[in-house]
Amino acid sequence: MSHRLAVLISGSGTNLQAIIDAIQAGQLQAEVAVVLSNSATAGGLQRAIRAGIPTLTLDHRNYPDRSGFDQTMISELDRFQPDTVVLAGFMRILSTAFVRHYHGRLINIHPSLLPRHKGLHTHRRALEAGDSEHGCTVHFVTEELDGGPAIARARVPVLVNDDEEILSQRVQAREHDLYPRVLDWRAAGRLTLGPQGVLLDGKPITAEGIDIDQLPAGLSGSAGTDRI
Ligand code: GRF
Repeated sequence: MSHRLAVLISGSGTNLQAIIDAIQAGQLQAEVAVVLSNSATAGGLQRAIRAGIPTLTLDHRNYPDRSGFDQTMISELDRFQPDTVVLAGFMRILSTAFVRHYHGRLINIHPSLLPRHKGLHTHRRALEAGDSEHGCTVHFVTEELDGGPAIARARVPVLVNDDEEILSQRVQAREHDLYPRVLDWRAAGRLTLGPQGVLLDGKPITAEGIDIDQLPAGLSGSAGTDRI
C-alpha cells in the first residue's frame, strides 16, 4: 500500500503543489490522502481540488479552544489513516495532545536554518542579522515550537542587494525541492524518529540535519553510507 500523506495548510500551498508535482512525476512514491486547511480561503485548497485530492476545511474560530479544535483535527485526519502528517504553511500552534498523537510521523518545513530564526518573519530577521547564508529546514515536530529534531536543510546565500521578497523566493525554491525529497525518504521507510533522534537508513544523522547539497553518493536513491 502506498504511503499516505495528510497535508495541512493555511495559505497559498506552493509546498503542497511541489509535493503533488513530485508524486505525479514519479519522484515521490506516496499519495496525498487529504489536504486539511484551517481557512476556507487558503489558495492551496484549489490546488488540492485540481489534483483530485479530498479536502477538509476546519475553521479554528468555530471551536472554543485549541484543544477542541485539535481533537477534531485528529479525528478527521485519522479517518484518512495518514502515515505522515505534513505541515506545509499551517499557521496554527499545535497542542501537546496533537503533537503526541502524531509523534514520529509529524513533519514541518521551516523557512530558516534552524535553530536560527525560529518563529515568524525569518527572512527579514536573517537580513537584519546580517546573515551571509539562510535557507530552510525540514524537521520532526515536537512540543517545542520549531525545535524538533532536524532532518534536512537547504542553504542559500544572502546577497548584498537582497530584500525580504527576493530572499523569500530564493528560499522557497529550495523548499520545493527539499520537502518532496525528504518525504520520499519517509515514504520508502528510510526515515524514522527514535529515542536518540532522527535515523536515516537506521543510522543517526547530524543534529543540524542533512545538508541536501552534500548528500553522500547513493543517498538519494538506495541505502546511504557512513558519512551521513
Ligand atoms: C513556507 O515558507 C514554509 O517554510 C512555511 O510556510 C510557508 C508556506 O508556503 N512553513 P506555501 O503555502 O507552501 O506557499
